[in-house]
Amino acid sequence: MAIRNFLFCCFGSGSRKTQTVEGVEPRVVSTRSIALDDKDQEVEVKSESLTDSLSSLESSTAPALQHQTTQRALCVVAKHTYELNDDIPYPSIDSPNEILIRTFAVGLNPIDWKSVDYNFCMPSFPWIGGRELTGLVEAVGSEVSEFKVGDRVWASTYYRDRRAGTFQELCVVPQHTVLPLPASLSMEAGACLGVAALTAAMTLWKWLGVPMPLHHGNAAERHNQVKSQEAEYILIWGGSTITGQFAIQLARTSGLQVIAVTSAKTSTLAKNLGAQHVVSRDSKTNEQVVSAIREIVGDDLTLAIDIVGNETGAHCLTVLSKSKPSTLAPLAFLKANEQIPENVSIAPVEMKRFIIEEGNRKFGLELNRLVEAGALRMPEVEVLQGLEEVEVGLQMLKRGDMGGRKLVVQVA
Ligand SMILES: NC(=O)c1ccc[n+]([C@@H]2O[C@H](COP(=O)([O-])OP(=O)(O)OC[C@H]3O[C@@H](n4cnc5c(N)ncnc54)[C@H](OP(=O)(O)O)[C@@H]3O)[C@@H](O)[C@H]2O)c1
Repeated sequence: MAIRNFLFCCFGSGSRKTQTVEGVEPRVVSTRSIALDDKDQEVEVKSESLTDSLSSLESSTAPALQHQTTQRALCVVAKHTYELNDDIPYPSIDSPNEILIRTFAVGLNPIDWKSVDYNFCMPSFPWIGGRELTGLVEAVGSEVSEFKVGDRVWASTYYRDRRAGTFQELCVVPQHTVLPLPASLSMEAGACLGVAALTAAMTLWKWLGVPMPLHHGNAAERHNQVKSQEAEYILIWGGSTITGQFAIQLARTSGLQVIAVTSAKTSTLAKNLGAQHVVSRDSKTNEQVVSAIREIVGDDLTLAIDIVGNETGAHCLTVLSKSKPSTLAPLAFLKANEQIPENVSIAPVEMKRFIIEEGNRKFGLELNRLVEAGALRMPEVEVLQGLEEVEVGLQMLKRGDMGGRKLVVQVA
């Protein structure tokens, strides 16, 4: 372990609410269960005692740095059960390229409640969820060159490392997964870059093969790029989802014409973000939505992203061109036995690639460039206060009535 710098208690710890539950060891300040879901799938999860697991998290931080020895985290301690715990050991930097971040804000995402309800992406109990954050760099490993203590950053994290779960006050992540937070963004606004924005960027530019926006050429080159792609359409089914809002904008920046499917209440949002055509799904069957899309694009649709579920994913397959090579990116997956037409390829959207392939950092950098250029509008954000509100927020997400707003929890 090597730590070059350390900033003690940069913000927040004084303001948190702490309740003591007598006789419980380690100290648990809140316990609640989430409702079971009838689609529940059992996945084998190794169960450890809380104490054993927490000791495996124990900090190897040098004695001189042990000002703060514990931190608060929201743990999943069993299927469907969270516990807020103030006695999680201060995490260690275990390799020279890692960064310790003091979490300021975390974005909430459907994967956060799905993984708890369906019991996946939690290698053992207790586990700490959460996939994206903004915060301040607290300490860096000896080989970290791009960041220093106190930097404002955003990060997209990996479920396989408990130290990287963002539902805790301190997270440890590899430096290539961390990006500087653009100066124009608040910590709360930046908390949706790590999942929704990055997923939209990688889906378009990596898995669908859409060219990244030209930013080195002159104005004439940029005009020609956009012009040459003017006729190419992309369907974004779920245009008002947080991921969809980024996908619409990035597709436009890359010169595509966007057809978005939303509800009537969010159709103006999709239009304002740059969708040329918005098909409202209100009072329509999915088949009627498909007919409305075909009226716009005929047999020319070759690119589609489904951001809703396996039924809408299947309908995307029916609206893609029957004669041209086409690609669908199903972000919420397809049924295992779905019949895929021969001319259609399925783009495998695997966000773990951002973590395990360092070269994908370029997509985060391009997002930052677009934000700094004022070319990317961030979603409207609703902020909840404190880790104790994560469960409340996840229930709100689950109900699906956010109307295009991003839920963010301020941790610090
Ligand atoms: N594979 C990956 O790595 C990955 C990454 C990110 C997200 N995802 C998945 O993508 C999905 C969306 O995530 P998110 O965070 O962007 O979602 P979100 O913002 O929570 O999406 C909620 C919105 O979905 C829209 N919606 C619901 N049913 C719809 C339908 N039939 N047609 C069109 N829109 C519909 C609703 O908007 P309206 O009422 O306005 O239509 C609702 O406000 C989730 O299933 C998530 O798990 C996957």
